[in-house]
Amino acid sequence: MKGKKKTTPNLVIFMDLVAEGDEVLLYLNDRKSWILKVERGKKFHTHKGIINIEDLIGKPYGSEVLTSLGVALKILPADYLDHLEKIARKTQIIYPKDMAYIALIANVRSGSRVVECGTGSGALTSYLANMVRPNGKVYTYEVREDFQVNAKKNLESLGLEKFVEFKLKDITKGIDETDVDAVILDMATPWLVVEEARKALRVGGRLVSFSPTINQVEKTVDAMEKAQFINIKAVELIMRGYKVKVNETRPDTIMVGHTGYIVSGRRC
Ligand SMILES: C[S@@+](CC[C@H](N)C(=O)[O-])C[C@H]1O[C@@H](n2cnc3c(N)ncnc32)[C@H](O)[C@@H]1O
Repeated sequence: MKGKKKTTPNLVIFMDLVAEGDEVLLYLNDRKSWILKVERGKKFHTHKGIINIEDLIGKPYGSEVLTSLGVALKILPADYLDHLEKIARKTQIIYPKDMAYIALIANVRSGSRVVECGTGSGALTSYLANMVRPNGKVYTYEVREDFQVNAKKNLESLGLEKFVEFKLKDITKGIDETDVDAVILDMATPWLVVEEARKALRVGGRLVSFSPTINQVEKTVDAMEKAQFINIKAVELIMRGYKVKVNETRPDTIMVGHTGYIVSGRRC
């Protein structure tokens, strides 16, 4: 049941109710939550007790369900970020702060055709797939079959696999696609792909590469200059969180000091 109307004398509220087949987030606190599919006749076990999944059907989103131990869990619709936090990691994945900036400066949008390497755990692939849909495509290259299998599962759990073509191939041996809008690299030797990227990109298309070390940045920029890319830039994004409390607000004591550098340029 979706968008059911609840009326009071002065107010009309449209409430979304949990329906069979929905994917819901059961929220305990900021550190612990679960995603589950709403099905009849099944139980869901947590360390805070058990719930009968079908008891969720018909409850308004935003309300709570009690476990067998009397613990209240809030019910929310599971969204892309909920899934991203829970994907199975077999590799280091791109941090959200870098992911969003990479997609922006690669000019990825609905309908884009994007080449990506390596697939890794598919975290960046999923973000790109979410942006290019419904008519675009992400062509993602990976050399390790076990990583590719895991990434496919992750994309399937997000319902985004149809916007991705998974390629089991060493990208330094060549990019099969031509006239693509962007090439995005998160791999150990991006400088070995720059010439291939130039051939694959349409004129005006963007190359963006993420690397944890500065020697990778130097080699990549050097290769991009030789391949006559323009607007070549290298940046590092540093994000600092805050502990917010009235009259006591201050930066978090511990922060992620470094993730990687982002090199970008445009094919001329
Ligand atoms: C750091 S991981 C990528 C993580 C990914 N961006 C994510 O967010 O989940 C780097 C991946 O690049 C792959 N890789 C490295 N060199 C490659 C190459 N020449 N061709 C294809 N894949 C490569 C590795 O096997 C590894 O899975």
